[in-house]
Amino acid sequence: MANFLTRTTTNVMDWVNARAPGMMPFYRKHMTEYYAPKNFNVWYYFGSLATVVLVNQILTGIFLTMHFKPSAAEAFSSVEYIMRDVEWGWLIRYMHSTGASLFFIVVYLHMFRGLMYGSYQKPRELVWVIGMVLYLVLMAEAFMGYVLPWGQMSFWGAKVIISLFGAIPVIGNGLTEWIMGDYLPGDATLNRFFALHVIALPLVLLLLVVLHLGALHEVGSNNPDGVDIKKGPKGNRWSTTAPADGIPFHPYYTTGKDLFGVGFFLIIAAFIIFFEPTFGGLFLEHDNFTEANRLVTPEHIKPTWYFTPYYAMLRVVPSFFAIKLWGVLVMFAAIAVLFLVPWLDKSPVKSYRYRGKLSWAMLLMLAVCFLWLGKIGGGPGTDPAETIIGRVLTFLYFVFFITMPIWTKLDRTKPVPERVTMHD
Ligand code: HEM
Repeated sequence: MANFLTRTTTNVMDWVNARAPGMMPFYRKHMTEYYAPKNFNVWYYFGSLATVVLVNQILTGIFLTMHFKPSAAEAFSSVEYIMRDVEWGWLIRYMHSTGASLFFIVVYLHMFRGLMYGSYQKPRELVWVIGMVLYLVLMAEAFMGYVLPWGQMSFWGAKVIISLFGAIPVIGNGLTEWIMGDYLPGDATLNRFFALHVIALPLVLLLLVVLHLGALHEVGSNNPDGVDIKKGPKGNRWSTTAPADGIPFHPYYTTGKDLFGVGFFLIIAAFIIFFEPTFGGLFLEHDNFTEANRLVTPEHIKPTWYFTPYYAMLRVVPSFFAIKLWGVLVMFAAIAVLFLVPWLDKSPVKSYRYRGKLSWAMLLMLAVCFLWLGKIGGGPGTDPAETIIGRVLTFLYFVFFITMPIWTKLDRTKPVPERVTMHD
């Protein structure tokens, strides 16, 4: 039996190879002959986890689409129908809604890893920039998805966010109307967001992931030491031309590391999905369990947690000279400035392991600012003291980036090892 299976598999593979000779070299280049540094640590789980969550979102999304009705009259009740009457509908929906939040947790940790190990530095600038485009598209995807169930927060969130475009001089009002397709979020808005959410943006995301990994595989992965694995004597036991400190991505990292990470991650995900799917109102807000009503404004309109740092910036920036635009500009600048990190960082070393206390202090400051702003953005925004704190945090957030060329140069670095180290 085993012999028969081996023979059949070999025959099928030979048949395919004869007809598509480029496929095997492609597989080898990206899997068995992609030499990844042997010192990856837990921070290197999040790329593969992000890919897993993307697949989960697409698969569960397909099943939700089968029962969802993209119209203002029916959307809310079709989601209720999915939750109560469709077989396993509640599970599919919670997998999708929990998946959205987990996606951002994973991507934020993935980005933080990039910052910590200088993974954006030459020659990986393009990997970072494509990653940032992914982040932007992901935010658009999540925002539009949140509008679809047509709850109170879907409606009012859409109204607040789309109305931001109204702050743009001259074209603002026309643009807002054009995006909504109406004077308020309505049927037209829901329909176009549905089309973009289920087809256009997932395709763009998939394409960007391919480009992200393609760009990474051209230059090779960075690692916690931030040193080039091509350094040191050439040759290892897999190949005489392979880098000395690299191991074949498949099967070593696929089965030896990523599969374990996925298992661990799925246990946590299952725990949330089965026991705490709303996550105390963070993953699914309480207001969104009430159908959209344009005559009743919720007490506090706020976006989902992953947008709240930027939302806090929008709220705390005062409108100088009666111009509302500043908050909007600051919010967009906070995202845009991340694109520039590869060119703002002037440090001669990549990884923070070999940077000094100054760099660590700055990175810590950035993380604290982002998390604290997130907390402020998720609150009611009525406390004047909190508004002042929010302004200071927003200022410090930008200080990190604007002064980066200075502190990365001033900071005392430690000697970088010739070869990768295995100390954790
Ligand atoms: C849908 C979102 C994303 C997916 C599916 C994704 C996937 C991946 C995967 C599979 C890897 C290789 C494994 C690893 O190094 O962990 C990777 C590497 C990388 N990603 Fe992403 N990524 C996403 C978003 C981002 C974002 C938002 C950024 C930053 C702006 C980013 C920056 C990077 C960098 C710099 C690397 C190379 C890391 C290194 O070699 O040290 N990615 N990504």
